[in-house]
Amino acid sequence: MSTMKIAVLPGDGIGPEIVAEALKVLQALDLRFELEQALVGGAAYDAHGHPLPEATLALAKGADAVLFGAVGDWKYDKLDRPLRPEQAILGLRKNLGLFANFRPAICYEQLTHASSLKPELVAGLDILIIRELTGDIYFGQPRGRRESPDGAFKGAPEAFDTMRYARPEIERIAHVAFQAARKRSKKVTSVDKANVLETFQFWKDVVTEVHAQYPDVELEHMYVDNAAMQLVKAPKKFDVVFTGNMFGDILSDEAAMLTGSIGMLPSASLNERNQGLYEPSHGSAPDIAGKGVANPLATILSAAMMLRFSLNQEQAAQRIERAVQAVLSQGLRTADIHSDGTRRVGTAEMGDAVVAALRAQG
Ligand code: IPM
Ligand code: MG
Repeated sequence: MSTMKIAVLPGDGIGPEIVAEALKVLQALDLRFELEQALVGGAAYDAHGHPLPEATLALAKGADAVLFGAVGDWKYDKLDRPLRPEQAILGLRKNLGLFANFRPAICYEQLTHASSLKPELVAGLDILIIRELTGDIYFGQPRGRRESPDGAFKGAPEAFDTMRYARPEIERIAHVAFQAARKRSKKVTSVDKANVLETFQFWKDVVTEVHAQYPDVELEHMYVDNAAMQLVKAPKKFDVVFTGNMFGDILSDEAAMLTGSIGMLPSASLNERNQGLYEPSHGSAPDIAGKGVANPLATILSAAMMLRFSLNQEQAAQRIERAVQAVLSQGLRTADIHSDGTRRVGTAEMGDAVVAALRAQG
């Protein structure tokens, strides 16, 4: 088999620390990878004056998969928008066409008590958020600032964005959602705001049409405000939560908290060719960067998703997931998931423990 090419983009804040642990885990597998690192986000801005330099983008485009840490730091907040670290991740999504974002929210048995919800509400929770990632108000044009052209505030300075979805854009992500549901409990909740927004009435109509091709999958529609409420009221009623870019951004953070720690949640962003970008669902956490206390498990689990979705290595993916379960069962916890009776470890110690658990599988 040809060598699997992985672009490694650690980024800012805790990014380099957590990516280093994921690399340790990948290198402990008996597989051959070609790993190439590049700067991204604030680190790339500092070195090259741009958060997504041409060379970094070219490396990502030419790889089978991108392993991404995190980007961002308060110190870049005053830069013009195109130069801010977040533009790197948005630019990668757009340029690689990574329209399908998978964000599993799984509450591990060992961490049921780390959730802010009652244990009985989250025990056994296993939902998959599928978020459209390259459209919606995130990328819609026109946007900007201007003098208000009409209405009660005519003449006043105003800012505006455009929410829009094209039919093929909704169709392709709807197929992804229904096909993912077929591998799970065969139930999709499509989240919209059809009662108010034209864009999401259209979303609902198109999703309903595509659903006709998946009669074996149950489809329910839910308004986003209700979905936000149901997620904390009865989260286990959901299986696949399917929605647009903006609502998916918000609901995926909410769902993350149900599981006890956002430090546990991996994510995958795929294009039509199954090329993907894999990153933890959390951010760069500049407040704890460099302290060696960040939880590397979300990044390690993202590497497992990378093996599964882009590199066709299902067995290796499962080995990593079992190793993570094993270290949790051994009682090892980073600060974010630590509780009485468990052993607090740092970033590197957690990574080493996962490697040891992998080796122990023989
Ligand atoms: C996410 C993040 C990004 C988003 C930011 C960093 C641009 O919040 O991946 O959820 O809004 O999509
Ligand atoms: Mg977000």
